[in-house]
Amino acid sequence: MRVFIVKDYEELSVQAAQIVAGQIYVKPNSVLGLATGSTPLFMYHHLIRIYKEYGLDFSEVTTFNLDEYVGLPEADKKSYHYYMYDNFFRHVNLDQKKIHLPDGMAASVDAECLAYEKAIQECGGIDLQVLGIGQNGHIGFNEPDEKFEAYTHEVKLKQDTIEANARFFADISEVPTRAISMGIKTIMQAKKVVLLANGSNKAEAVYRAVCEGITPEIPASILQLHQDVIVIIEEGAAQYL
Ligand code: GLP
Repeated sequence: MRVFIVKDYEELSVQAAQIVAGQIYVKPNSVLGLATGSTPLFMYHHLIRIYKEYGLDFSEVTTFNLDEYVGLPEADKKSYHYYMYDNFFRHVNLDQKKIHLPDGMAASVDAECLAYEKAIQECGGIDLQVLGIGQNGHIGFNEPDEKFEAYTHEVKLKQDTIEANARFFADISEVPTRAISMGIKTIMQAKKVVLLANGSNKAEAVYRAVCEGITPEIPASILQLHQDVIVIIEEGAAQYL
């Protein structure tokens, strides 16, 4: 793991955007694994800026998002579909056919998980995976558990995750209780990983993921075994390192 502590959210976002831009510059047909949540938001803003100012070309890029809530239609403003189109996809020249998110409204969630995993493998796997981290150490929606779940699967969200994500909903009762998430092996097979952590509410999870033992109780800790991980941590989130 290469760990960089940066002074604030802006610097974190610029650095993350530069890594993604560099990846696309070197390999224009890169397969990107993308994350949602508040952490990568400004990274997307900076990628849009780089696209507009420097003509970064997304036309050959393929994207796979980490996760999606089960039961939210794409048009729902709380869905990760909506988030991605609103904050990133519709602002750059990505090819619609190369954009992938799990379908949270699929008639069979199990079949959707299998198809999603297959689509990732058929594209040759992910070149660069961007990750945030949950307050409980989750990555994607891989929640603390007794074992690491390998491939794309349906998740029952933990109460602390539901509470953490309730800020995006009018009421906690509206937060979906289930999600589809790439698995740990899906993520670990990515050639390169960038983990972003912002805010003092992430400090404990960051410490446990980076400095303590590898355990499925802190899913992000598995990244210690990955050969090419960059961790970018804002000072507040790095306070226990
Ligand atoms: C959600 C997402 C994760 C994300 C995490 C942290 O649960 N499924 O992919 O990393 O929240 O989100 P935030 O960046 O808003 O703190």
